[in-house]
Amino acid sequence: MENIVVARPRRRVMLITLDRPKALNALNKALLGELAQALREAEAGDEVRCVVLTGSQRSFSAGADIKEMPEGGIPMFAEAGRLRSWKTIERFPKPLVAAVNGYALGGGCELTLLCDIVVAGENARFGTPEIKIAAFPGDGGTQRLPRAVGKARAMMMILTGEPIDARTALAWGLVAELVPTERTVERALDIAASIAEYSPIALQMPKAEVLAAFEKPLDESLSLERKMLLWQTEDHDEGIAAFVEKRKPEYKGR
Ligand code: CAA
Repeated sequence: MENIVVARPRRRVMLITLDRPKALNALNKALLGELAQALREAEAGDEVRCVVLTGSQRSFSAGADIKEMPEGGIPMFAEAGRLRSWKTIERFPKPLVAAVNGYALGGGCELTLLCDIVVAGENARFGTPEIKIAAFPGDGGTQRLPRAVGKARAMMMILTGEPIDARTALAWGLVAELVPTERTVERALDIAASIAEYSPIALQMPKAEVLAAFEKPLDESLSLERKMLLWQTEDHDEGIAAFVEKRKPEYKGR
């Protein structure tokens, strides 16, 4: 992998660091492909239960690689491999925590919208500057940003292209927690490590259910909850037994 670094700094946690510093972690096709591949590996098996995604202190990601955009524009965006990579990120079923420092612009901001929990450093800047190059957020931003921050704020960001600072992102709900810039990755890893102790099957169901709240009519999205599939798992029995016996549960993901 040339554009990302994959590490396992905590039990059952994978840390993926975007690593194209000269391009401020712009999301070229190669980087997206590597990220998707790492997530596929994280998805398989039980060794990884939570993933943390980060960039550098200067830049989480400055968005789609503008230099990769051909003059026509559309062919690059519609390119099948690129879209497949985005789909893999979008459909990643395990908890995904973003540790965001510096720029999260364009596709970089859209990437944070696909993360389940966003921890931001004080120097983080979120924005959709595509309008400045006569484009608009094309990797989910026009749909997910208004769902995350509401129409008025999304319109402000998308139509002006001006970024918001970390405090505003916290106030607007893009960010779950704001920390000093040098603490961002450690804090995200702490969160991930605590999540990774839980039953993997119990984690995936509420993630899917919460995401369904943004995608489906209420009646449909309540179906998973109503079926109460989780309550029929071995892990749930183990959770109850461990509570009663005052011991730490051993979850198997079944
Ligand atoms: N694509 C390709 N290269 C990029 C890039 C991007 N999105 N963003 C930055 N870079 C490169 C710069 O070209 C520069 O490379 P060189 O040294 O070879 O010239 C290097 O990264 C450092 O950038 P700057 O010198 O510009 O650094 P700065 O600190 O002065 O400015 C910045 C930082 C404000 C992020 C500025 O680089 C910038 O505005 N970048 C573009 C951000 C942008 O428009 N993102 C949206 C892309 S479109 C998109 O994402 C589409 C979509 O959703 C569908």
